[in-house]
Amino acid sequence: MAKIKQNFRCTECNAEYPKWSGQCTQCGTWNSLVEFTKQESHPVSRHAPGGNVIDFKDKSNVAAHDGMRITTGFAEVDRVLGGGFFPDSLTLFVGNPGIGKSTLALQIALQIAHATTNRPVLIFSGEESVFQVRKRAERLGGVPANLHVAATFVMEDVIATITEHNPAFVIVDSAQTFSSREIPGAPGSMPQIRTITEMLMHASKTSGIPILLIGQVTKGGEMAGPQLLAHLVDTVLQFEGDDQHDLRILRSSKNRFGATSEVGIFAMTESGLQEVTNPSEAFLSGRLPGAIGSSIYPALEGQRPFLVEIQALTATTPFGLPRRSASGISLQRLSLLLAVLEKHAGVKLASLDVFANVVGGFRIEEPAADLAICLAVASSRNKAAIPQELFVLGEVGLSGEVRAVSKLEQRLKEGEKLGFTTAIVPSTQKAPQTKLQLIPVRTVAEAVQKVLG
Ligand code: TYD
Ligand code: MG
Repeated sequence: MAKIKQNFRCTECNAEYPKWSGQCTQCGTWNSLVEFTKQESHPVSRHAPGGNVIDFKDKSNVAAHDGMRITTGFAEVDRVLGGGFFPDSLTLFVGNPGIGKSTLALQIALQIAHATTNRPVLIFSGEESVFQVRKRAERLGGVPANLHVAATFVMEDVIATITEHNPAFVIVDSAQTFSSREIPGAPGSMPQIRTITEMLMHASKTSGIPILLIGQVTKGGEMAGPQLLAHLVDTVLQFEGDDQHDLRILRSSKNRFGATSEVGIFAMTESGLQEVTNPSEAFLSGRLPGAIGSSIYPALEGQRPFLVEIQALTATTPFGLPRRSASGISLQRLSLLLAVLEKHAGVKLASLDVFANVVGGFRIEEPAADLAICLAVASSRNKAAIPQELFVLGEVGLSGEVRAVSKLEQRLKEGEKLGFTTAIVPSTQKAPQTKLQLIPVRTVAEAVQKVLG
């Protein structure tokens, strides 16, 4: 309702005041305020003609199953999600083709179907036939009666089926293959992907059913229609790994219902994805004793430390310009560390190709791995192996100084648990109680000298 209100306005500068005063504080003029009548209307009603007033007592406005998360049957997945799928959540699950998205999604569907026999679990596949999906499900432990598979490309049909069957869990595989009849454009086009994602989001929010939407990323790691999709969903899960290894890493890059720091580790086997309960052992399993150019680093993901192997290879460049290649660490970081090694530790690399790799398809973002990368490179360059039972921790600064790392104690404990005896640590950091022999170092040069002689 509009109401009439009295106010005062300066005749000089038009500044408005609720009360009269002798001087306008805006322009400083004396006796310039005059009374005027103001029509004050409700600000919203001007912008929302025909809007309905929301009834807060209406139960459908309240989160229906607040806190009742649906566990996936995989501790590794639940951890990444923050305790299972949140009801009425839309989760986008992305990864390279062939990494195992459909497999993991199917295994989760099987687990939920077994745990929730009174409600169906629905898989809508635009990628594979019903026969293919069911065949795979049989191989992975049998098809429960309440697991239903449909091969379709039409999102309207998916939504209608969800509404009709009230399933416990839904998989849509994949975002690139579905489309809405309502809008033009081929499946996989940006308007289509956007529309079908919004339709699924709406379906999930109104029905309280968790939906997992699979999305392909290109070989370069780009999601088709990349960042836009992430904004439209509640949670984004990423599945990573490399072609040569069976290890798979599940991360969340966005999570409205939990932290994004935890990872889940899996191994792709003959019978689908298996959880890896001891990642350190898995990541170190292929390690050669006395290998040159190999160092061990205790990575920390969320609350969990695990040891990974960093490998480096230096070789005389056959062409004029030396090559630098990195997998699992950023190329920029590698280049910087190579420059520090050359300048501050006397490790000559100018005419050498340098390749660095984190074993098992793991990706390291933490600068705490700097020193381990440096030592792997120096080990290859100097043709001297790093002692087998030693691991390395420390961030490296531009002056070649070794800096403190986070959660030192947890990382050291993991090394100790795995039978390591010695750790290279930053000398600036106060060391916790440990059975390990700690070798504090102040600079990269000192680390190279102490470890490789
Ligand atoms: P898939 O889940 O189809 O990958 P995505 O959906 O991410 O494209 O996984 C395909 C790969 O997984 C394929 O190379 C075969 C392999 N695989 C196994 O090794 N074991 C299994 O039990 C299954 C089902 C698949
Ligand atoms: Mg697939």
